[in-house]
Amino acid sequence: MSQRTLVLLKPDAVRRGLVGEIIGRIERKAGWTIGALELRTLDRATLEQHYAEHVGRDFYEPLMGFMSSGPVVAMVVEGERVIEGVRALAGPTDPISAAPGSIRGDFGTITRENLIHASDSEESAEREIKIFFPGLV
Ligand code: TYD
Ligand code: MG
Repeated sequence: MSQRTLVLLKPDAVRRGLVGEIIGRIERKAGWTIGALELRTLDRATLEQHYAEHVGRDFYEPLMGFMSSGPVVAMVVEGERVIEGVRALAGPTDPISAAPGSIRGDFGTITRENLIHASDSEESAEREIKIFFPGLV
């Protein structure tokens, strides 16, 4: 089942020079392709839409600060079961719990700075793609 998903390489990934490494892992998966890609610094309004489900959580304000602390790479990735697949490549939210071999497991230590966002369902993917790439059909 071909799908598309919204992926963000977070400011820590860009600052640490891990963009090529992470895109390489995604790109090497058979049949997956990049449908859109942009380097941009996110403003508050965009982040509020993107993280609407987390408003009021104790980590929300620090997360907003971190996510606007530098540019991110926003991408749409397309291909077979790509929603579940990129989440699997990323590993769980807490990088210390993430297995070595996963992006978060290999490169992260703290939950806020966990390198990558990937949509968690078809509904989230379509909602998030509209936020970041409103012109994409
Ligand atoms: P969440 O949607 O739960 O995780 P995921 O990115 O794996 O879908 O949370 C969104 C982001 O919020 C998460 O990537 C990092 C940050 N966060 C914290 O800083 N502390 C926390 O306790 C949680 C749950 C998330
Ligand atoms: Mg999430």
